[in-house]
Amino acid sequence: MKKVHNFNAGPCVLPKQAVESAIEAIRDFDGTGIGLLEISHRTPGWERVMAETEQLWIELLGIPAGYKVLFLGGGASTQFFMVAANLLNKKAAYLQTGVWAKKAVKEAKMFGEVEVVASSEDRTYCYIPKNYTIPTDADYFHITTNNTIYGTEIKYDMDCPINLVADMSSDIMSRPVDVSKYALIYGGAQKNVGPAGVTFVIVREDVLGKVERQMSTMVDYRTHIPESSMFNTPPVFPIFVMHETLKWVKELGGLEVMHKMNNDKADLLYNEIDRNKMFVGTADKEDRSIMNICFVMAEGYKDKEADFMAFAKERGMVGIKGHRSVGGFRASTYNACPKESVQALVDCMQEFEKLNA
Ligand SMILES: Cc1ncc(COP(=O)(O)O)c(C=O)c1O
Repeated sequence: MKKVHNFNAGPCVLPKQAVESAIEAIRDFDGTGIGLLEISHRTPGWERVMAETEQLWIELLGIPAGYKVLFLGGGASTQFFMVAANLLNKKAAYLQTGVWAKKAVKEAKMFGEVEVVASSEDRTYCYIPKNYTIPTDADYFHITTNNTIYGTEIKYDMDCPINLVADMSSDIMSRPVDVSKYALIYGGAQKNVGPAGVTFVIVREDVLGKVERQMSTMVDYRTHIPESSMFNTPPVFPIFVMHETLKWVKELGGLEVMHKMNNDKADLLYNEIDRNKMFVGTADKEDRSIMNICFVMAEGYKDKEADFMAFAKERGMVGIKGHRSVGGFRASTYNACPKESVQALVDCMQEFEKLNA
């Protein structure tokens, strides 16, 4: 197979061992003689995978009692309205740090009043707003911890006077998280925890059942809790890969180890961006993401963008094109992205500078 360095923003690189065991399970699930895609989700072997997957979430994140982990369909985009349907009675507060947050705001507005407490849209979302006030009369405060497109990240668990809700689609499992500070955490799996097709929701059960509206059965989190996410047919394939991915995280030593590995990779690339006179980072330094590293050609070298892209492609770099709203380059260095790939990109930038600057 062709050797490439996969920096895709999601879906993205997965641990090799997770992919290998998924291939094997598709042939023969759990020694049953039937493939994973052909089993009934009511077989004991599958029920074990579901239970173990939930247990891995609880162990890795240290999820306290009183919370439930759900595995649902519809992607994080479905959570934009599901969160509001379940939690927004009168008013909700949102921090608008990117287009995903803006989309979440749009959906929440269908359920009540939404106060955008601060936005960084004025500078193309290249920073995390500071010094805003969270209204204490809101039902919850919604944040997007990692802004996949712009490469900014809230890298700590904030104190919040009201229920805190976080879209952690692109930084879940990249660092230890104090789950007790959040009422609800959600995200699509297709970055650090598996392929597309399953959405995780970690919810503190006491926040549910407080809204006055009627909800469709599937939209109400309380439908899925007693059924352990098997009220309807669960997406078995992505959940299986999630199970194997989390086993890999655990085997490597858990989230402290992931955090160190991710910081090392991010430092390596940011140091090169800051050193190399042909490139410049786009996010404010204090808010730089350790998952999505965004940069553009520096002044004087703007006309070299296509040349660098071709140069990098030639050397096996995949997925480094920046999002169309930002341009330039974005290297996503999720958990399963090896340090050698980041080193290969750094080498490539250095070589390009030698030849062109
Ligand atoms: C931070 C964030 N939120 C939400 C989404 C949307 O996720 P989905 O495609 O699972 O609906 C994405 C997708 O990349 C994302 O990065």
